[in-house]
Amino acid sequence: MSNETLRLLQTHRSDRSFLDTPVSDADLAEIVDAAQRAPTSNNGQHISLVVVRDAARRAKIAQLANNQPWIAKAPVFVVVVVDFHKTRLAIELAGKTQNLHATAEGFAIGAVDAGITLATLMTAARALGLGVVPIGGIRQDSQGMIDLLELPPLTFPMVGVSLGHVDQPAAQKPRLPLDTYRHDETYCGDTLAAGIAAYDQTLMAHWQSTGRADGLPWSANTAAAFERGCARKTAAVALAQGFAFDK
Ligand SMILES: Cc1cc2nc3c(=O)[nH]c(=O)nc-3n(C[C@H](O)[C@H](O)[C@H](O)COP(=O)(O)O)c2cc1C
Repeated sequence: MSNETLRLLQTHRSDRSFLDTPVSDADLAEIVDAAQRAPTSNNGQHISLVVVRDAARRAKIAQLANNQPWIAKAPVFVVVVVDFHKTRLAIELAGKTQNLHATAEGFAIGAVDAGITLATLMTAARALGLGVVPIGGIRQDSQGMIDLLELPPLTFPMVGVSLGHVDQPAAQKPRLPLDTYRHDETYCGDTLAAGIAAYDQTLMAHWQSTGRADGLPWSANTAAAFERGCARKTAAVALAQGFAFDK
């Protein structure tokens, strides 16, 4: 690979083994600066970050996120908050009324822009030699996160990321065959079934090579996650925070 940025992106992996070594203030400031430069729809800048370094608070987040020990271990946890509280204030200052937060499109905009922020945080952290793992598990108990971080109405903790110096580096996880991912001009599903079958084998070989005895084929793993739907109270908590999904 000829380009350092491409090399970084193409070597992405989620790390879940971290040292206690702190992340420096200077590195953290660079990472946050990079994230704030990320684009937002309409330049609404309806994203805020809550940077959590306190060990007790990280331990609490680890517990809220269904007991994920790497959240407590990594020295930094950054919560990406969709923040229509900030924009409502601006709109009120302009003498107008915000309505976007009461639409499904508003929640979609917030989620997309939170994802862009997440990706930027991860790339910036990895550019500084740190390891990362994104954490959607904070939505396991969104209300608990809101209470812990003292988030105001019209905000929602969409996703987080653990950052730190890596102890045991993770192996890079293989992906589905390219022709199940890249479609030129129009979508073509002709190779999907064969691609999934091939990837089930690829992933099992990956689990074997990394010594993970409980690893499942991709189709079975995805079924385990997607078949049951989701018990998270995302909509209910978002409604309680003042969001709505179309009036
Ligand atoms: C939005 C998002 C949420 C995620 N949430 C979690 C999580 O709560 N806990 C976790 O251990 N991994 C989480 N992951 C990491 C995925 O499991 C991981 O990206 C996926 O298995 C692919 O592995 P890789 O990132 O090493 O390539 C999340 C990833 C994304 C993009």
